[in-house]
Amino acid sequence: MDRKEFLLKGTAVCGLASTITFLNSCSKTTPINFTIDLANPVNAPLLTVGGYVIQNNAYVRKTATGYVALSLICTHQGCIVLYRTGSTPIFACPCHSGTYDTNGNVTGGPPPSALIKLNVTESANVLTVTS
Ligand code: FES
Repeated sequence: MDRKEFLLKGTAVCGLASTITFLNSCSKTTPINFTIDLANPVNAPLLTVGGYVIQNNAYVRKTATGYVALSLICTHQGCIVLYRTGSTPIFACPCHSGTYDTNGNVTGGPPPSALIKLNVTESANVLTVTS
């Protein structure tokens, strides 16, 4: 390996390691705190039981008794999980194939625990979602 090849490979490895470290540290440490205006048409799914929205790395679903919210940060190494619809919707982690059910429980792969449940409060037609 000549000097140029060594530098190129070293830069690629360091860049990848830095990116992974950055993503992990950001997603694991950023607190979730945002509001959802139920009068905004974009949030209309939350007016129907079973309807949901995904915002700010969080999944919020209307239930018969209120709302459920989950952090979309994978409990394995902090990647953002993706919501996959279908006959059995799941959250799937693109990093190491971890999976969760729609209540956030681990159903496969390496995640050590369920997705973190978030707090949801409602006041004057506005939801506040916090970690
Ligand atoms: S970070 Fe999600 S399975 Fe590893």
